Amino acid sequence: MATRDEEVYDYLFKVVMIGDSGVGKSNLLMRYTKGDFNIESKTTIGVEFATKSIKTQDKKVIKAQIWDTAGQERYRAITNAYYRGAVGALLVYDVTSMQSFQHVANWLKELKQYADSNIVILLVGNKTDLKDKREVKKEDAAQYADQHSLAFIETSALDCSNVDLAFDRIINEIY
Ligand code: GTP
Ligand code: MG
Repeated sequence: MATRDEEVYDYLFKVVMIGDSGVGKSNLLMRYTKGDFNIESKTTIGVEFATKSIKTQDKKVIKAQIWDTAGQERYRAITNAYYRGAVGALLVYDVTSMQSFQHVANWLKELKQYADSNIVILLVGNKTDLKDKREVKKEDAAQYADQHSLAFIETSALDCSNVDLAFDRIINEIY
């Protein structure tokens, strides 16, 4: 067992959040780690972290260290350092933005270039609460995920749906 900051855990997993600006990466992270949501959240500048400890069925403690950077190129963390050591990635798009979904391919390219080849990727379609504004069908995204061997889930950071499940799923897949 490793001890740091008086916290005891068996495993430390680094997970990165990626995806276009405005898809809700920071709010998903805030919802998961703090139970909070911010309708007026500002674009992330540089890199932010949050951690959460999870107990597995076999009573091991996993500390997830989740990294969040800007979707916008000019505000992003240094790419190499951001991906270094990451064992999981939440690749987020916005179900109300076809463009953010089309850009998933670019994010996958970047993952291929910088991340470990064994990294576990979860494709996340966020903002399902905006039912009238949906542009990306769940079936289409599921099919895309299938073709690219990605896990897939839809979430809403606003109404909480599937947020815990998304993070728990990627952590369990890594474990
Ligand atoms: P960058 O830091 O610029 O890369 O953006 P981001 O992906 O971190 O997006 P952020 O979490 O800042 O959210 C952008 C906007 O979308 C904010 O106004 C949020 O309040 C809103 N938002 C995030 N998640 C949801 C959601 O699930 N539903 C709705 N309706 N709005 C959301
Ligand atoms: Mg952000």
